[in-house]
Amino acid sequence: IYRVQSPTALPTFLLIGPSGAGKTAFLTLTERNSAAQTHTSTAPLTIQALLPEGFVPSSSHYRSAGDPAYERARRFLLLDTPGHGKLRHFATARLVNPSNVRGIIFFIDAASVAEDTGLNEAAEYLHDVLLALQKRYTGAKTSKGPKEIPVLIAANKLDLFTALPPHLVKISLEKAVSEVRKSRAKGLKDSGVAMGAEEDMVDEERNWLGEGGEGSFEFRQMEEVGTSVVVKGGNVLGGDGTDVKNWWDWISEQL
Ligand code: GTP
Ligand code: MG
Repeated sequence: IYRVQSPTALPTFLLIGPSGAGKTAFLTLTERNSAAQTHTSTAPLTIQALLPEGFVPSSSHYRSAGDPAYERARRFLLLDTPGHGKLRHFATARLVNPSNVRGIIFFIDAASVAEDTGLNEAAEYLHDVLLALQKRYTGAKTSKGPKEIPVLIAANKLDLFTALPPHLVKISLEKAVSEVRKSRAKGLKDSGVAMGAEEDMVDEERNWLGEGGEGSFEFRQMEEVGTSVVVKGGNVLGGDGTDVKNWWDWISEQL
């Protein structure tokens, strides 16, 4: 009996983010090599994918095409999750137990984050995802710490003229996440759970994202807990076709 590598052992990239950001559109594009109409997701969906021609997995820079190890390294899974507020447990469940998760792609609609409502919704979800990764790191039993899980923030829909450019998406999100962090800390305090002052303190620290102190939150603070966060722009759809090269580059780096 020959053992074939089971598909579940393939590196997985988790597609997370608010509803309407373009997660399923990206999955569909990857699967069919052409964009198609999507509907809002109500369940998670996993597909097997292949890194497109022209992109090289970082583990295979010294291998040649045709080498079986090279071909194998191009394969991965994309796991799409619903962004609706009531359906996020599908995504967060994978964050608690992220075996085989090679990276997280947090999709946002770069046009919607130009407005407060869209920005705040994205920032709340992003805050919770980053905090889950931080807790996973600080709660690890081994001294080495768990395997790193990098995050790509995919600023999608750059074809829309109202879209914020990626560097402003980054600044806006960092600011908005700082605000979420503040209001969550206040919420914890106000919740008045009957706890001793000491327990209160421990809980506060554990639930505080990034560095302590008065400064604002910045994505680079996540490096302390084994998570690199980068923002890269693109568009799955659009009048002039798709542009997802930056995201493929990032995925190649993780493979
Ligand atoms: P949920 O399943 O609700 O979490 O949303 P989702 O992130 O899967 O969004 P989906 O992929 O279904 O896309 C939402 C809408 O945005 C669809 O109408 C897409 O056609 C549209 N869309 C996706 N990507 C782009 C893009 O790059 N540009 C433009 N203009 N529209 C896009
Ligand atoms: Mg969807």
